[in-house]
Order: sequence, then C-alpha cells, then structure tokens
Amino acid sequence: MAASIFTAVPRAPPVAVFKLTADFREDGDSRKVNLGVGAYRTDEGQPWVLPVVKKVEQMIAADNSLNHEYLPILGLPEFRANASRIALGDDSPAIKENRIGSVQSLGGTGALRIGAEFLRRWYNGNNNTATPVYISAPSWENHNSVFVDAGFKDIRTYHYWDAAKRGLDLQGLLDDMEKAPEFSIFILHACAHNPTGTDPTPDQWKQIAAVMKRRFLFPFFDSAYQGFASGSLDKDAWAVRYFVSEGFELFCAQSFSKNFGLYNERVGNLTVVGKDADNVQRVLSQMEKIVRTTWSNPPSQGARIVATTLSSPQLFAEWKDNVKTMADRVLLMRSELRSRLESLGTPGTWNHITEQIGMFSFTGLNPKQVEYMIKEKHIYLMASGRINMCGLTTKNLDYVAKSIHEAVTKIQ
Ligand SMILES: Cc1ncc(COP(=O)(O)O)c(C=O)c1O
Repeated sequence: MAASIFTAVPRAPPVAVFKLTADFREDGDSRKVNLGVGAYRTDEGQPWVLPVVKKVEQMIAADNSLNHEYLPILGLPEFRANASRIALGDDSPAIKENRIGSVQSLGGTGALRIGAEFLRRWYNGNNNTATPVYISAPSWENHNSVFVDAGFKDIRTYHYWDAAKRGLDLQGLLDDMEKAPEFSIFILHACAHNPTGTDPTPDQWKQIAAVMKRRFLFPFFDSAYQGFASGSLDKDAWAVRYFVSEGFELFCAQSFSKNFGLYNERVGNLTVVGKDADNVQRVLSQMEKIVRTTWSNPPSQGARIVATTLSSPQLFAEWKDNVKTMADRVLLMRSELRSRLESLGTPGTWNHITEQIGMFSFTGLNPKQVEYMIKEKHIYLMASGRINMCGLTTKNLDYVAKSIHEAVTKIQ
C-alpha cells in the first residue's frame, strides 16, 4: 500500500477546556469536582433544561404548520428581529431609525466568525488583513483563533486584568486605545467578561467609548452571557446600548447557548448597527454571501425556541425568571465560597470572588496551585486559575474551600 497522503499532517493540540473535561471524566476519585466546564450546572451538578425551553419545545413539536424546509440564508426573520431587540432594547433609536440588521448564526462563535470574515473583506479597505484587531488580556481563547482564521495578521492584546489588584486595569486599557492605530478593531465583552468576571462600570464604559470615538476605533461586542452577570437582561446590555446611543457603528455577536441553555443547538445572532438603512442593507448583502459558502443556511430548532419565547410576553417573563434562577445560584455559590475561605483564614483577600460577576471567577491561584488542586484534590480548573461557579454545589463547597486553603498555604 502507498503511504498515506496525510502523513505530513501534524497532530494539533487538544482544546484546553475539552481536554480538562475528558480528564475529569476519566478520574475515578469519588471526591472529584469539575470547575473547568463552560456551562451551567444545577446544585445536583447536572445540566439544566430551562422549564420555558421544555414548554416551547413541546409547543413546536405539536405545531403541524411547521416543517423542515430550508430557512433563508440570513436566518429566521422573527428570531433575528427579537434577538437584536433584546440586545439593543425595546426603544433603541437604531431600531426605530431602521438602521440595524442581523444574521442568525451558529452560536456566538458563528456570529464572531461571520463578523470577522466580513471585516477582513470590507472594513478599512478591501481585504485589509493588516487592520489591527485588539483582544483583551486575557480573553476567551477562541477570539484570537477566529480572527486569525478570518485572515487578520496583526492581532494584539489590550490591557484588561490587573493581577495585583485583581480588578480592571482601566488606565492600561485606555492607554492602549489611545495608542492604537485609527480604525483598529476592538473586541469588547458586553458583560460577564470571560475569564476574569470583571466588567467596566458604566462610568468606565463612558471613558472607553469617549476614547474609541475620538480615535475612530471599531467596537465589536461579544455578548455571550446576557442575563448572567446581574440577573437582568437590560443591565447586562447597558454597554452595548450606551455605545449605540453615542452614535457608533458596531457589531454585536450574541450567544443563546448559556442564557437559554441551548449549547448544542448552536443559536447565535450577529447584530449590525449602521448609520442608515442603506449601509446596513449593503453590509447584510455581503454577509449573506459569506454565510452561503460557510453553512449555507442556519438550523431552525434553537432559533424557533428563542423566537417563540421572546415574542410572547408570558413566555418572555418565564424565561427571565429562569435566567434569574441561574444567576442567583451563581451569586449564592460566590458568597458561600468567599465566606468559607474567610472563615478558614485562607491567606490573601477573597472579596474578588463576590465582586466578580457571571459564570466565571479568576481565583488568583497560580499554575502550581492549580496543578495541586487537580493532581492531589481531583478538582479540575483551568491553568489560568479560572473556575466556573456553577461547578460548585452545596455538597462540594466545603471540600473545594478546604482544598483551595491547602493549595494556597502549602504551595507558593
Ligand atoms: C466570551 C465568549 N464568547 C463567545 C462564546 C461562544 O458561544 P457559543 O457556544 O454560542 O458559540 C463563548 C462560549 O464560551 C464565550 O465565553
């Protein structure tokens, strides 16, 4: 037999978060805890199908008027309109002035990818792969790869996390924006920054917007956790809405994976806010071409679930309630973990655990301490020290707190 034509293909390293979950699964220790997973878990450590989602799924299954015809290339119109409405707000000036458009996408990742591909093709000149793209340090690791794969050659980081004060490095961020070449693209986490759990305050967002406007920087919001940060959809969309009110043209990638618990249905939306309807329609026409060669047209089940929920006042209220249930559980786990660490007298300060928001927390554990947690305690977390609060339950809190205490006191 001839040698394989794939012999020269190098093996790519596994994606860290999936590798961690695989290691966790294989671990036979009964005390094991997975704090690495990027999804919501109940207090029993189980995935949660939102009650409103279950109800709407049954409505869809019983609706004989529905079929499995292809959706339009840009997606289900009622999904796109409702998704953009919850990002921009009911009385958004941009919606009233008919200068927004949207693309249904395969999750938040798909929205980022279509947006990135469009920007490379058409923003700041044609096929300008040299436009700098700025990503927060640290960030969700896929941001870098998505923009690299879209062809951008100059991916940079901007200051975000101040490790010493365990909070936002606002001055570093603003300085980077001041120094960035005009028309650079900035990826901004709309809320519940992944992985630090640290967001700018409204006042800090205003300072960020002022610099971005003056320096002609393009805001590309990534909104993957709307509702998770504060429990309120409106509060969590404050930054995006503020930028729109300031007259920015922008993109906003939305994911419904977390706030609807629809991880495997791949439901996302890319909202485009432009100066006028004509601009937006031309942009959408180009995005339609990109979608056509990427996934041709999107899947319908998840989009139907979200559209049905968002367009009925009663189901919408139920959904908000379900989101609040998840957000409240996260808040409870934060305060329980902090109070345990404080009563154990664990060295260091632990107020950041309750000050950070959203699903994730940057514990401040260093890589050696993380290794100790995994190897000795069977508690799985990212090498960066990021933990998912939803991995904590009333049953494992004591064990996790004592293990963090041990890691911090034994390993420097
Ligand atoms: C910051 C951020 N953006 C985007 C995504 C992608 O979400 P999706 O699974 O909907 O593609 C995630 C998922 O973890 C995320 O954390």
